[in-house]
Amino acid sequence: MIEKIAVIGGGQMGSQIAALAAMAGYKTSLYDENRENLEYRYKFVEDNIKNLINKKIYTQEKLDAYKDNLDLRYSLDEVVQEKSFVIEAVVERHDVKLEIFKHISSFMGEEVVMATNSSFIQASELSKHCNHPERFINMHFFYPPIRMDLVEISYPDNVSDDVLERTKTVSKNMGRSVVVLKKETPGFIVNRMLAALVDEAYELYDEGIADFEDIDIAIKKGLNHPLGPFELSDYSGLDIHYYAKLKKFKESGDSKDEPKKFLEEKVLNGDLGVKTGKGFYQYKKD
Ligand SMILES: NC(=O)c1ccc[n+]([C@@H]2O[C@H](COP(=O)([O-])OP(=O)(O)OC[C@H]3O[C@@H](n4cnc5c(N)ncnc54)[C@H](O)[C@@H]3O)[C@@H](O)[C@H]2O)c1
Repeated sequence: MIEKIAVIGGGQMGSQIAALAAMAGYKTSLYDENRENLEYRYKFVEDNIKNLINKKIYTQEKLDAYKDNLDLRYSLDEVVQEKSFVIEAVVERHDVKLEIFKHISSFMGEEVVMATNSSFIQASELSKHCNHPERFINMHFFYPPIRMDLVEISYPDNVSDDVLERTKTVSKNMGRSVVVLKKETPGFIVNRMLAALVDEAYELYDEGIADFEDIDIAIKKGLNHPLGPFELSDYSGLDIHYYAKLKKFKESGDSKDEPKKFLEEKVLNGDLGVKTGKGFYQYKKD
């Protein structure tokens, strides 16, 4: 079946996931509640693709497909109209994601795949409150999706084979390597391992053992990582780390899971990293 794809949430991730879908030849619609951000991101991704053409990573055909196959929509009901495959990429908040899925699963056809790109929320945490729980799946891309060659797929026990197969097919057609988890776990493989590193980096900084810049240098030079944990946090968005820790803390009640005060202050201040121009470091707004 040739999927028609709706991407809900046109931020850093959603805008590029929609681009991947369009470049793979799928008719794709993208919606964000923030119209200005949606239009800014559309142009930003177009410029990115042009840069990648200059670097010979993409061809002109990909840019043409991006323009031909992707359209912007300005309401939730409109973006999912006549779609067979939904990918949600809104802010990392359970309540916001749940409201969206509850609404669309109440009227969308039984054959529709409901995928979430959430970093830590498992599909079962959403599906159990929605119609047709067997249609829900995690489809986890990496930032920036138009460059990062991986999708982690994870699913609740009751997922239908059709949903799993179609999610693999779409991910592969987007040109991505695919790993399929055998059990659900918050953070999947990569973020679960990364969280251990970032938590320890935050702990070192909180204890006053080193400046965050030096911790980043140590990890880059000592472990040969391309980015340090604080740079990486800025790139993914500090809100994502914050909400993930908050969720874990609410579930465990363990003080070691409590988000660090310095992280909370930045998030409440709106200093979310690269996307807002300031996080641990200062940036020109991307
Ligand atoms: N940034 C990363 O590295 C990364 C990697 C993998 C997965 N993710 C996941 O992708 C999702 C999005 O992250 P992001 O980095 O793109 O964040 P972002 O802040 O750049 O984008 C989130 C977008 O959601 C929109 N939004 C919020 N509520 C909405 C609603 N009710 N309806 C429509 N749009 C709404 C916002 O306007 C914003 O544009 C999160 O679940 C995150 O965990 C992020």
